[in-house]
Amino acid sequence: MSTASVCFVCLGNICRSPTAEGVFRGVVAGLGRAGEFTIDSAGTGAWHVGELADKRARRAAQRRGYELTSRARQVTPEDFERFDLVLAMDHDNLRELRAIAPAGMAEAKLRLLRSFEPGGTAAEVPDPYYGGDEGFEAVLDMCERAALGIVEYLDGDRGGR
Ligand code: 4NP
Repeated sequence: MSTASVCFVCLGNICRSPTAEGVFRGVVAGLGRAGEFTIDSAGTGAWHVGELADKRARRAAQRRGYELTSRARQVTPEDFERFDLVLAMDHDNLRELRAIAPAGMAEAKLRLLRSFEPGGTAAEVPDPYYGGDEGFEAVLDMCERAALGIVEYLDGDRGGR
């Protein structure tokens, strides 16, 4: 069985990208396809390296049946070699990732997460870190809406993105 790989990237790797990772793991497991995907997340910043996801993110995810178990790490240029797809949460993340991507890799592999929502746009996943619980719910909503589009893309239906 061939595997496809995706790495979700935000600033701290403790709120948005671990949530996206956990949701995507849950969705592909629900499809009975967990073994077909390599899934990871990382941050452009290093402040929280080694930490579990933010407690608020873990609680909100758990209420929807997702377990966030990853530890924060900083993204590296090699991630563009290792993963088929690198998904940024916002435009700052995109800019940081473009700056470290090996030649040709950003065009081939770097996208915004929300471009995979139905009718995808260039909208951002807002940083919930300094806000209330509703911000974490909104992140979960966006990650859930994008998940099937990501699966389809990795399955080879890459038209339009
Ligand atoms: P994330 O949220 O990028 O979604 O993980 C943040 C977490 C921590 C910080 C910023 C954003 N921080 O500045 O510590």
